[in-house]
Amino acid sequence: MKIAIIGTGYVGLVTAVCFADMGHTVVGTDVVPEKIDKASRGIPHIYEPGLEELLKKNLKKGNLTFIHDLDEAIRSSDVLFVSVNTPQWKDGSADMVYVEGVARRIAENLNSYKVIVEKSTVPVKTSMWIKRTIDMHKKKDEEFDVASNPEFLREGSAVYDFLNPDRVVIGVESERARDILVKIYQKFKDRLLVTNIDTAELIKHASNSFLALKISYINLISELCEKTEADVELVARGMGLDPRIGGQFLKAGLGYGGSCFPKDIRALTRIGEDLGVNFDLLKESDKVNLRRIDVFMDKIKKALWIMKDKIIAVWGLSFKPETDDIREAPSIKVIKRLLKGGASLRLYDPKAMENVKQVFPEKSSQVYYAKSPYEAAEKANALLIITDWDEFKKLDMKKIKKLMANPIILDGRNIYEPSRIRELGFEYYSIGRE
Ligand code: NAD
Ligand code: UGA
Repeated sequence: MKIAIIGTGYVGLVTAVCFADMGHTVVGTDVVPEKIDKASRGIPHIYEPGLEELLKKNLKKGNLTFIHDLDEAIRSSDVLFVSVNTPQWKDGSADMVYVEGVARRIAENLNSYKVIVEKSTVPVKTSMWIKRTIDMHKKKDEEFDVASNPEFLREGSAVYDFLNPDRVVIGVESERARDILVKIYQKFKDRLLVTNIDTAELIKHASNSFLALKISYINLISELCEKTEADVELVARGMGLDPRIGGQFLKAGLGYGGSCFPKDIRALTRIGEDLGVNFDLLKESDKVNLRRIDVFMDKIKKALWIMKDKIIAVWGLSFKPETDDIREAPSIKVIKRLLKGGASLRLYDPKAMENVKQVFPEKSSQVYYAKSPYEAAEKANALLIITDWDEFKKLDMKKIKKLMANPIILDGRNIYEPSRIRELGFEYYSIGRE
């Protein structure tokens, strides 16, 4: 049984490499030639812990290949995992144009029975459209099945998550497809949840939206903490000790970014609207999340008064630690506003600077990319912490204080203990606590 991974982005590349590591024969393909060229040479086009080593290991083993030719990848494989992007459309719904494009190519190249597996996050009922598209365009009267296998990995721990899943959800409507997918995931047979396709599709959107809701909830609580003497870190701990609530995803901060939560919560809202179910609950979560940047900007204004001609150090540009991904990163929104206010910025991130340079080119006189967090802090009137990279928790803060013009820290992720950082002489502002 040969597996094709169509779309080798953050999810597809990890899926290809991990399936190969699980012993399957895998071919990966993508419309962006550089991604395939790099992967073939053992170089991932993204930063993801552990991915490069695993990619190299499995290329060497010989059961993992990457090819440019989508038609060939389809024809030569039995199971096709579709992991192309499903971005947000103007009205908030998921744009399925890439999925539809792939479905048509599969139809044109259907030369034997195949299982087409939705790995991308797609609206409930997408499988019906994929089936219809393939039926409309197929050239040979071959059989096929569509199945759903949503992915729950997190960027920054994607390889670990893929190889240690909490659950593997498989949505099928035939025994034949079920048996094939159960065999592929044999290693995780104790964690399989087999459902119908609508259910599997909905589990993904429902999970992401619930997690996003949880983050917005604690962020709203943090706003209340700021108006009282309560400390959001302790409120979250106190809540999380109840196993019915759980301590994860209760970290207040600058809100959720990334390529998934913002778009998925809007997509589910639209699905609800289309099917006559009101999801204003999720719209509120979105609003709370968007407001996080305003709340943070207000703090900066309170600390600095005027932005013009201030030198501001910014630590952390990726949307979360351990990734180079800057899609929907809070840093981008904050930087835009700081630049508009006339500040000069000294930016630092362990992995995401090359991606940020595409948005804010180096040649701008207002933007400087520093080689280290120390260099970023030089002569700064304030230091902003946007992403909670571990690196920032282990720095010599006495040295940072000496380097800065004014020792003011605005910590959007609560990485320091307020009393300890203030003892060092910093003016320190964080989220939802004194
Ligand atoms: P991505 O943009 O990194 O990857 C998608 C890839 O598909 C790109 O490399 C693109 O070039 C390729 N592609 C587009 N059209 C193609 C075509 N016709 N043929 C071949 N390749 C094509 O996106 P991603 O972050 O990997 O997300 C992919 C899907 O997985 C989305 O639906 C997303 O919501 C979902 N998802 C993402 C994550 C995550 O952490 N990033 C986790 C779970 C699920
Ligand atoms: C998220 C989900 O956690 C994955 O299960 C899912 O597969 C994926 O989306 C997806 O569908 O793409 P990811 O976006 O990679 O994964 O990262 P998370 O760790 O979930 O963080 C998302 C955002 O929420 C980040 O900006 C992070 O800083 C923020 N966050 C997270 C908080 O502000 N507080 C928290 O307590 C947790």
